[in-house]
Amino acid sequence: MPRPAVLFVCLGNICRSPLAEAAFRREVERRGLEVEIDSAGTGSWHVGHPPDRRAQATALRNGVDIAHYRGRQVEPEDFRRFTHVVALDRDNLADLKRIRPSDATAELLLLLDAVEGRRGKSVADPYYGEDKDFDTTWADAVAGAKGLADLIEGEG
Ligand code: 4NP
Repeated sequence: MPRPAVLFVCLGNICRSPLAEAAFRREVERRGLEVEIDSAGTGSWHVGHPPDRRAQATALRNGVDIAHYRGRQVEPEDFRRFTHVVALDRDNLADLKRIRPSDATAELLLLLDAVEGRRGKSVADPYYGEDKDFDTTWADAVAGAKGLADLIEGEG
């Protein structure tokens, strides 16, 4: 079994996937698991940018500082380097399937596939929303992080 490595992918890599990364880092640390973790976007608009200030504030309220995270775009090597590539919504999943190289080894799934009763569902994009929408994103990220950690522990 290779060491687990999880990449979270949304559109911009400044709202949802950094929050998923933060929630999963916290969960993995709590459980004492060894997992490589990163996030990326399917789009390139926010490459090199810190997370959206509302995402930063939400993570910090929940005990995780994500100010140092920087946006990057998903690349073909990610499908070989990571064991799990986790899409935040169904559009991201469709985009990832389109760019996935033929020798990809990563398992591709939706974050909420790991959550009982929410299989196949998207994490809503809070970018054009309000502060409270980021709390909803965080709740989804936490639920997904727990489910994903259970999944990985079960595989180990
Ligand atoms: P994210 O949100 O995919 O959760 O990071 C978005 C951030 C930026 C844009 C869209 C979604 N944008 O169009 O710039």
